[in-house]
Amino acid sequence: MKIGILTGGGDCPGLNAVIRAIVRKSIHYGWECIGIQNGWKGLLEVDTLPLDMESVSGILQKGGTILGTSRTNPYKLKDGEKHVVENSKKIGMDALVAIGGEDTLGVANKLSKNGFKVVGVPKTIDNDLSGTDYTFGFDTAVNIAMEAIDRIHTTAESHHRVMIIEVMGRHAGWIAIHSGLAAGADMILIPEKEIQLKEVIKVINSRMKRGRNFSIIVVAEGAKISDSDRKEGQWILQDEKLDAFGHVRLGGISNVLADIIEKKTKIESRATILGHVQRGGSPTAFDRVLGSRFGVYAVEMIHDGKFGRMAALKGAEIIDVSIEDAVKDTKTVDEQLFSTAKVFFS
Ligand code: F6P
Repeated sequence: MKIGILTGGGDCPGLNAVIRAIVRKSIHYGWECIGIQNGWKGLLEVDTLPLDMESVSGILQKGGTILGTSRTNPYKLKDGEKHVVENSKKIGMDALVAIGGEDTLGVANKLSKNGFKVVGVPKTIDNDLSGTDYTFGFDTAVNIAMEAIDRIHTTAESHHRVMIIEVMGRHAGWIAIHSGLAAGADMILIPEKEIQLKEVIKVINSRMKRGRNFSIIVVAEGAKISDSDRKEGQWILQDEKLDAFGHVRLGGISNVLADIIEKKTKIESRATILGHVQRGGSPTAFDRVLGSRFGVYAVEMIHDGKFGRMAALKGAEIIDVSIEDAVKDTKTVDEQLFSTAKVFFS
């Protein structure tokens, strides 16, 4: 049996932990592993590398992915699916583990429906995949953001400023809510709730009245503001160009907010965009363990013939769910968590 492994979409701390676990568990079954380089692109171009005990040694604590990644979408290319299937046969691959978020697993789902033997592992720092309580990479991103906010706190206090920290999160505010709660943000703005500028200003002013002459606002890149200058619910974009999965590049909402807040409150305001820092570097213990558990389980799914399924965390247990269900809807921040965070908006 020969197992292919690919990592697609944005990179994420813990990817190497998953790759290592798949290889190590495959060795237990006497199976061989082959790495597909740069996501689906590697299956279109037959760009592979052998993976054995030696090649995955010492990678557990490394960020990024030893296989490289891309946002290539075979379904956007002529005969893309046909090439993926033919090339898989050419390299003698019997089954594939696709490690990715909604885009990569969306491709896996389509292939699986046409009989391709694939299982999925849920990856994204955004934690917005359905069917699993947590994706790996999220915990690391939250910890990086929390540390950054802690640091910004001390400079905000010294300069009596409003500091707006922008974190990743296109459709869901998981990183914003978790890092904001953990770092004691005074306001957290997420894509699920349109930004109410009046509320933001009210919180900053009421803090001023209490002698707290600085504020910390955490905002997810995908949050939407509506005010007199903007059409309702508009995203702030870095670039209007679309990638192969139809995504625009978000970024800059913190700058827009800093301007508005400074004008309305007359308090000096500054923006910090954490950006790709959140995706880089060594994974936390939680992500190393979760990635290892997902990787081992993915090989068990193949062993049991559970194709078209994705490893998932439910409570403390690893289970499997259909890839189709996992990619159907974005998992957004729930009301209970948001209400808890709101207690601290003052
Ligand atoms: O991996 C998902 C994500 O982190 C989004 O939150 C963000 O919008 C996107 O990646 C940015 O990725 P890139 O700059 O690599 O296209």
